[in-house]
Amino acid sequence: MKQQIIRANNINKDLSAFLKSLNYNGLFVLCDEITYTNCFHKIQTIPEIKTAKKCIILAGDENKKIESLSKVWQFLSENRANRKSVMINLGGGMLTDLGGFAASTFKRGIRFINIPTTLLGAVDAAVGGKTGINFNGLKNEIGTFAPAMAVFIYSEFFETLDTSNLLSGYAEMIKHSLLNSSPNLNAVLSFDLENIDYKQLNRLLFESVLIKEQIVKEDPTEQGIRKALNLGHTFGHAFESFSYELNKPILHGYAVAWGMICELYLSFIKLNFDKNDLIKVTRFIKGNYGKFPLECEQYSRLYELMQHDKKNESEEINFTLLKSVGDIVINQTASKQEIEEALDFYREY
Ligand code: GLY
Repeated sequence: MKQQIIRANNINKDLSAFLKSLNYNGLFVLCDEITYTNCFHKIQTIPEIKTAKKCIILAGDENKKIESLSKVWQFLSENRANRKSVMINLGGGMLTDLGGFAASTFKRGIRFINIPTTLLGAVDAAVGGKTGINFNGLKNEIGTFAPAMAVFIYSEFFETLDTSNLLSGYAEMIKHSLLNSSPNLNAVLSFDLENIDYKQLNRLLFESVLIKEQIVKEDPTEQGIRKALNLGHTFGHAFESFSYELNKPILHGYAVAWGMICELYLSFIKLNFDKNDLIKVTRFIKGNYGKFPLECEQYSRLYELMQHDKKNESEEINFTLLKSVGDIVINQTASKQEIEEALDFYREY
């Protein structure tokens, strides 16, 4: 099914027009307690939404679990949702992942619309059809590939985000620009994250979403080129897990930003990635994200965490690297020594 990405200037008008164009039987809205309070009012006056049934679940990744999912299935069942029904998921990545999974499995699948309310959700989770929940202590262990019929990108939601959540989403935009082209990368790296121009952010965000959409279109189920989207994530997931072990949790996008420095360094030593581009990206990330304090003695734990990364298909650690901006090489590996050298670069540059 084709996923429509809609850049909404006026969410009320644009969503209402979209709903009017649909043929459906039963409209359902899923929010979490936070998006219900902070975001729902932006759409609640739409006549179709006024009469829709609403389900509110607990917020936070710790609630991306079977109990919340069961609540949504129960709600759909009690309200007689059927194959012609539509569900709207209003929230961040946790909500759109869980809501998409609930919809894609209820009666073998009903249509759903994602309205991401965080930058990270808009640039990544809501687009591309990955749905799921955490299970057995593992993130996104159960899920489906099921695209939303439409994703509404409405940047007003992001204007109330705190800086760290905004930066967290922005890291995925840096990633997309590295996978695409130098002009897009230059625009992303010239953006002033300290004095945000939301109109410009909206433009950059939309371009970024289209880069992801293009990759997903080529490989919706991640058999090949979609692995490009893992750039920065092998080191990134290790940083993220390590931060939890140290009881100093960091946001996903920060971990990915720092992971990108390490993986661009690997790209530089292994595939001749341009040193100026490495330095340019490193400076931007260090300037805006600071750095995760790291000692040499901690390298071995990070290495172990990388060995357990679920992206590995054999004993070797799997990376997506770049020959140059936009020239992607998937399924790369690196020796322990190269990984440590990348960590040295990350610490010392
Ligand atoms: N978040 C990476 C992907 O959607 O494939």
